[in-house]
Amino acid sequence: ELKTIILIGGPQKGTRFRPLSLELPKPLFPIAGYPLIHHHIEACSKVPNMKEIVLIGYYQQNESLSRFIASVQHEFNVPVRYLQEFQPLGTVGGLYHFRDQIMLGNPSALIVLYADISSDFPLKEMWEFHKKHNHGKHTVMGTESNPSQASDNGVMVEDPDTHELLHYVEKPETYVSSLINCGAYIFSPTIFDALKELRQKNVERSSELSYSNNVGRIMMGEQLMPYLSGQGAVYVFKTNHFWTVLKSAGSAIFANRNFLELYKTRHPDRLTLNKDNKPTIIGDVFIHPTASVDSTAVIGPNVSIGSGVIIGPGARVKDAIILDKAEIKDHCCILYSIVGWNCVIGAWSRIEGTKFEPNPNEPHARLASESLFQKNGRLIASTTVLGRNVVINPELLVRNSIVLPYKELSSSFKNEIIL
Ligand code: GDD
Ligand code: GTP
Repeated sequence: ELKTIILIGGPQKGTRFRPLSLELPKPLFPIAGYPLIHHHIEACSKVPNMKEIVLIGYYQQNESLSRFIASVQHEFNVPVRYLQEFQPLGTVGGLYHFRDQIMLGNPSALIVLYADISSDFPLKEMWEFHKKHNHGKHTVMGTESNPSQASDNGVMVEDPDTHELLHYVEKPETYVSSLINCGAYIFSPTIFDALKELRQKNVERSSELSYSNNVGRIMMGEQLMPYLSGQGAVYVFKTNHFWTVLKSAGSAIFANRNFLELYKTRHPDRLTLNKDNKPTIIGDVFIHPTASVDSTAVIGPNVSIGSGVIIGPGARVKDAIILDKAEIKDHCCILYSIVGWNCVIGAWSRIEGTKFEPNPNEPHARLASESLFQKNGRLIASTTVLGRNVVINPELLVRNSIVLPYKELSSSFKNEIIL
């Protein structure tokens, strides 16, 4: 028997995802037409003998989370539960804190996933790999990165023959290895012994430092992985399929593209086809059945359109996520952008971001780690994001900008955050 734990973090996280994360927890943000962790949960539910999926985070349980949980339980026919940390316990502190509930029913292994990753989640293969190693061992998913970008992540040195994890460093200052930690793990129940030790170390350290407010905070990358490495306890399952972290709006557009591409093999029914008297579709496009798109619009590639969206005649949409109930009037052009819930884009306006993708000429290139500002404080040209209920008047150009919710724009902007 197996269980899955998805670490969904909390409201202090996801700052690079504002203003979208002001509206709903980032793990529920729609990518390729479904909440981000819907993709994780679907993948986990396909692993045989999955008894339960547990979400751990420090969001207050709210209506959107409850509704989401009810709907995925029903859809995938597996129990899904939310356990709330009352303070951030770090990536694995929550695992230890809720160990009794997690181990209820004696699962033989735990799949642990970060919420903010996008991947095709090759969990069945990873589970087969895990089973080949002896009882009590753990598995971490790794992928090759471009050497110059590897240090944005936890990096790993493995034994090339056995794949044993020999050495682990979280976001090293200097080059260590280009094999990076993907944030997907399979743990044996012995993981709780290691977590207990690490918690004890926190307690000892806190009495030295004479504070003890959060000894329960235990970090995967800084503590658990280095602790387990080099003692035959962890093996690296390597994947060369798509994998990316989802931190910013630009990475959401990229993840959207990857998940849409995956639909070709896993869910062809979710992709829109070209038909007579229907909009022209280029490449991979998801259109919610309740959206209304004019037959003279041109959509795609890499576009997701939410429920109740209205797209007018002559509009052009490419590499974009259009959220529920937005309205895009006649002849608008939307490129490399996220258009928030209920936005209205006036006729002939143009909403444009900058293409943000890994350098196709470099082997194993990843998305650049995206910060919003340059050193001199200027906004970096990037994906355009319109928050909820933004109104853009007709015939305007909004480029590489972030517009906060409920703004009405009556002039053009570029490279600005509009507060
Ligand atoms: N429940 C809970 N509580 N979840 C948390 C907490 C917490 O206190 N802190 C973080 N998380 C969740 C986040 O929501 C996210 O899904 C995941 O844990 C990773 O969190 P980060 O702390 O943002 O990690 P990171 O992106 O800097 O780096 C980690 O992930 C990389 C892969 O994406 C490291 O493990 C790297 O080594 C790794 O390469
Ligand atoms: P790259 O190959 O990525 O350099 O892009 P591109 O030459 O295809 O141009 P860009 O990414 O700027 O635009 C993407 C698509 O959007 C183009 O192929 C056009 O079909 C369409 N497009 C761009 N601007 C407009 C516009 O003002 N109106 C309409 N209707 N379509 C536009």
